[in-house]
Amino acid sequence: MSVELLLAQDAAEVAEIAAAALAEVVQAKPDAVVGFATGGTPLATYRRLTELSMAGELDASNVRPTALDEYLGVPGDDPRSFRAYLRRHVLDPLRVHEDRGVLLDGAAADPIAECERFERGLTALGGVDVQLVGIGRNGHLAFNEPWAAAAGRTHVRALAKTTRDDNAGDFPGDPVPALALTQGLGTILEARTILLVATGDGKAGAVAAALDGPIDLACPASQLQRHPRVRVVLDPEAASGLSRRGRGAGIPSAW
Ligand code: GLP
Repeated sequence: MSVELLLAQDAAEVAEIAAAALAEVVQAKPDAVVGFATGGTPLATYRRLTELSMAGELDASNVRPTALDEYLGVPGDDPRSFRAYLRRHVLDPLRVHEDRGVLLDGAAADPIAECERFERGLTALGGVDVQLVGIGRNGHLAFNEPWAAAAGRTHVRALAKTTRDDNAGDFPGDPVPALALTQGLGTILEARTILLVATGDGKAGAVAAALDGPIDLACPASQLQRHPRVRVVLDPEAASGLSRRGRGAGIPSAW
């Protein structure tokens, strides 16, 4: 298995390590193509990156940004869209220009054509240098729910009930959209490096299935085991379901 596992002392240290790993990529390649995840988990990492930027230790203004997924039918100027999340937490604070990269448009008239446009955009960027990902309670990656195709490309996907329940807070008073656009597992696995962050005991089962279990479509994140360069950063709660073997090599090394 080509996964490097880093066990942090707590969620704050997860953010510290993840931000340092992302900053390292950008310092080495200022126009790196960086895939930013959404969800609650990466927020502390984005706050740490913002601190580094404000302290003059990181210049991300040449980064070419990309995204993992977007709700179908939710336009980018809707605050509930993932594009709005990225503008709020990543692009604006880090002064990253979204036009330099490629994001998904949830309100595109033809969602399938939008997925194809996005794939062409990633190709034109030369691929993703580093992709930050979280993990769903059910082991999803981006919006690749269990049984998503292992080699899938960007596509329209129906969301699992657990995912819609978990994301209900994004849509107060309204139902969570039933469909989303998402990078496929095949697309995600083409990123040159992948950084997975997970915190809290709610993720322990999914993390154990992803890292300790077999590569199995029932747990989409287990496909990460096929990737040559994955770094996983966990707090003790998220790591609590891992066997001793899974906890193996927690030695930080330069990326
Ligand atoms: C969301 C996103 C995923 C994210 C996951 C976990 O639905 N599509 O990319 O990793 O769920 O989110 P959280 O970090 O809030 O637990």
